[in-house]
Amino acid sequence: MRMVDLIIKKREGFELSEEEIRFWISGYVKGEIPDYQSSAMQMAILFKGMTKNEVSVLTDAMEHSGETLDLSNIKGVKVDKHSTGGVGDKTTLVLGPMVAACGGVVAKLSGRGLGHTGGTLDKLESIPGLSIAIEGKRFEEQVNRIGLAVAGQTKSLVPADKKMYALRDVTGTVESIPLIAASVMSKKLASGSDAILLDVTVGDGAFMKNMDSARELASVMVEIGKKLGRDTRAIISDMSEPLGLAVGNNLEVKEAIAALKGNGPEDLMELCYTAGSIMLVQSNIYKTTVEARKALKENVDNGKAFEKLCLMVEAQGGDVSYIKDPSKFEMAKNIVPVVSKEDGYIKDIKALTIGVSSMKLGGGRETLEDTIDMSAGIVLAKKVGDFVKKGDVLCTIYTNKDEKTYNEIIGEIYTAYSFSTEKVPHTSVIKEVIE
Ligand code: URA
Repeated sequence: MRMVDLIIKKREGFELSEEEIRFWISGYVKGEIPDYQSSAMQMAILFKGMTKNEVSVLTDAMEHSGETLDLSNIKGVKVDKHSTGGVGDKTTLVLGPMVAACGGVVAKLSGRGLGHTGGTLDKLESIPGLSIAIEGKRFEEQVNRIGLAVAGQTKSLVPADKKMYALRDVTGTVESIPLIAASVMSKKLASGSDAILLDVTVGDGAFMKNMDSARELASVMVEIGKKLGRDTRAIISDMSEPLGLAVGNNLEVKEAIAALKGNGPEDLMELCYTAGSIMLVQSNIYKTTVEARKALKENVDNGKAFEKLCLMVEAQGGDVSYIKDPSKFEMAKNIVPVVSKEDGYIKDIKALTIGVSSMKLGGGRETLEDTIDMSAGIVLAKKVGDFVKKGDVLCTIYTNKDEKTYNEIIGEIYTAYSFSTEKVPHTSVIKEVIE
């Protein structure tokens, strides 16, 4: 078999056989197929698509390209959630403790942020002392004891995705539904959970820019998961404006702490209650999402959800005093408001622009080697649909960059906003639930 023939076959729009897909993935991981041929194949897939059968074979080949986790020593139904990425998405930090407080078992592997999107691991590492490098017996023991652990993906898990994602990032082939579906699902399946909830984000700050493509991605992933024996469901959530108010690592941890005490922004609370109630039904703890939502609210109100976060931070070596007193978190030197230059209803706050600006303020990485300033980011004061007067604060920047640099970034942040003289409705963060 020759790789060039497979590239031409896909370029002409034909279906690849199982043997051909496995030949590509195993050859690529072993280094027998070079990056340039794999990129050409990925570009051909971006243009010509893949059948459902091709996507499931690709997912399976990627899942088994390295080690897979065996969570059978962990008791109960292990439930995982995965977001396809966004700005201000601190859901895992809120949802994990909430679900664990209601008896759910969350053994989660998370990733780092790149570009305009943040990563759960970086947010967790803004808590002094906390380690995400927990593996094997220690991971199992923690989940069995407190029902919750969030760790970093090991190098040996799905090596095919690491190589393919790095290539996609620099060859304009990230936004392909079959490639995103196989990338996400191969990692979720390899991490061993019994049930998977996918949060497919849609809008300016997400890979899927409209509902049709978000629906298609969600249904392809749900079908793959079900076919491979996992209870897989999906939510489509709005990422046209950032989620919640805070964007940036320790700023988001502080918002997550507030949310676990019931004081989070409305959209974040709604996403966590909706996702959490589906996860508890998937775990067979509650029969209906109505009962599950009630239990989640009770565990927020009685402080048990917050207590779970404290237990997780402690188990992973973090300093719990920061969780109990968030004012201890390091503060950026420069805290500067961005004010409105006009009166009107906020029509749009472009999540992508806010995400990129937060990264430039020091809160994110442009390349994987960059270091992050944990205190940097942006906190919104208003959301889409709110009315502002000229001079009102739209958001506040947190940065250690110099004045000239941050003033330029403030100019860019302002372009994220558009205004209307007409009333703009507040829309729901949940667009659709696919079960
Ligand atoms: N998240 C992933 O893990 N992979 C993709 O391809 C896109 C989002």
